[in-house]
Amino acid sequence: MSMAAKQARGKKANDAIFATNSRAQEAARTYGKENVLIGTVGSILDENGDIVFLKVVEDEFRNLPRNEYIAYAPIEGLPEFIEACKQECFSESRPNAYIEGIATTGGTGGIHHLVHNYTEIGDKVITADWHWGAYKQICADNGRELVTYPLFDEAFEFNFPALEALTLELAKIQENVLIIINTPGNNPTGFSLCESDWDKVLDMSKNLVANGKNKVIIGIDVAYIDFSGEKEEVRRFFKKFENLPKEILGVACYSISKGFTMYGQRVGCMLGITSDAEVAQEFFDINQMTSRGTWSNINRPAMRTMANIVHDPEKMKQYEEEILGYSKLVEERAAILEEEGKAIGLPMLPYMGGFFVTIPSDAPAEVTEELMKEHVYLIPVSRGIRVAVCSVPKRQITGLAQRIYDAMKRVGQL
Ligand SMILES: Cc1ncc(COP(=O)(O)O)c(C=O)c1O
Repeated sequence: MSMAAKQARGKKANDAIFATNSRAQEAARTYGKENVLIGTVGSILDENGDIVFLKVVEDEFRNLPRNEYIAYAPIEGLPEFIEACKQECFSESRPNAYIEGIATTGGTGGIHHLVHNYTEIGDKVITADWHWGAYKQICADNGRELVTYPLFDEAFEFNFPALEALTLELAKIQENVLIIINTPGNNPTGFSLCESDWDKVLDMSKNLVANGKNKVIIGIDVAYIDFSGEKEEVRRFFKKFENLPKEILGVACYSISKGFTMYGQRVGCMLGITSDAEVAQEFFDINQMTSRGTWSNINRPAMRTMANIVHDPEKMKQYEEEILGYSKLVEERAAILEEEGKAIGLPMLPYMGGFFVTIPSDAPAEVTEELMKEHVYLIPVSRGIRVAVCSVPKRQITGLAQRIYDAMKRVGQL
């Protein structure tokens, strides 16, 4: 028997990542931390295998006035926090446009609101085939369907024609087309769109809305923006969101989970970018209302912590130094895997940044099961094996390409 309402029956969040991680933690307890390689969950661990809490963030967070820990925050978020998010998300490339922000429960909350408020029940939402699994769950839970285009062409470059074809097809049956692009540092591949990829996406959107019928909403999932290369360079594409037709709305789903190492605090901000004052006001109103109708307001101390750091030049300097250090560390780990892999002919999807590297495979679960026999825990994704380079110390990354290669050979791949 089911007590659930019709649309909720049979729902289940099978989270392979957290399940594999539990097995990995169990193995670490049994065989010792040194003997187990855990490349599962997307959090930065230092070279000792401990989760990183940036020092400047921890100091600020632990020393707030009493009131900041317990008082409610405004539904739309603390104003100082929203301004801090605009500063940090866009930096020198803040578009000259109307920009409104609404505090969300991490980047996840922003994706939820986008799907909920910018598509209709039964609509389809576009993203790439290599995508973060939660997109599908958010769509399904809201009565929408996630549809995908192949992210790469044969040369492993951005497959713009595939995105264009899917967008135009969908535009025939839906007024609003929501495209979610996870860049820079896509999860799970590490791929980032380059400037000319963005030009194509925006030109296509302009051409489409010129028909007077369609609207395009581009959700930019920037969860990994602080780990994807030089700060100003990776943000430059935001300038392209200036002077767009009013039927194109850009929404950056910004999060302090990764960039401020506060994953569990559940804080982010959706930032709507538009050339139209009314669209901006509507963005604020409808998303604030959805926050009220879902989680109400979010975590005040974490918002205050981030705002205090960003608005204080001295603390900001410390923050920049610390984050740069860890960003470099993740980059170095990825580079070891890439170089060793290249030397032995292990295929790898193009990595430009972010927490993960992916080895393509037709039967990834077989390979990850095989690797578990030697206490290596990685995540099988739909057509690959995902390595969380954010969490594996360099001494364990060294040799990992060979171990994956050997496991693939043993199960008859390669
Ligand atoms: C691609 C992507 N987007 C967004 C998020 C959002 O994370 P959070 O809700 O913790 O900010 C994640 C986290 O894993 C992610 O991988």
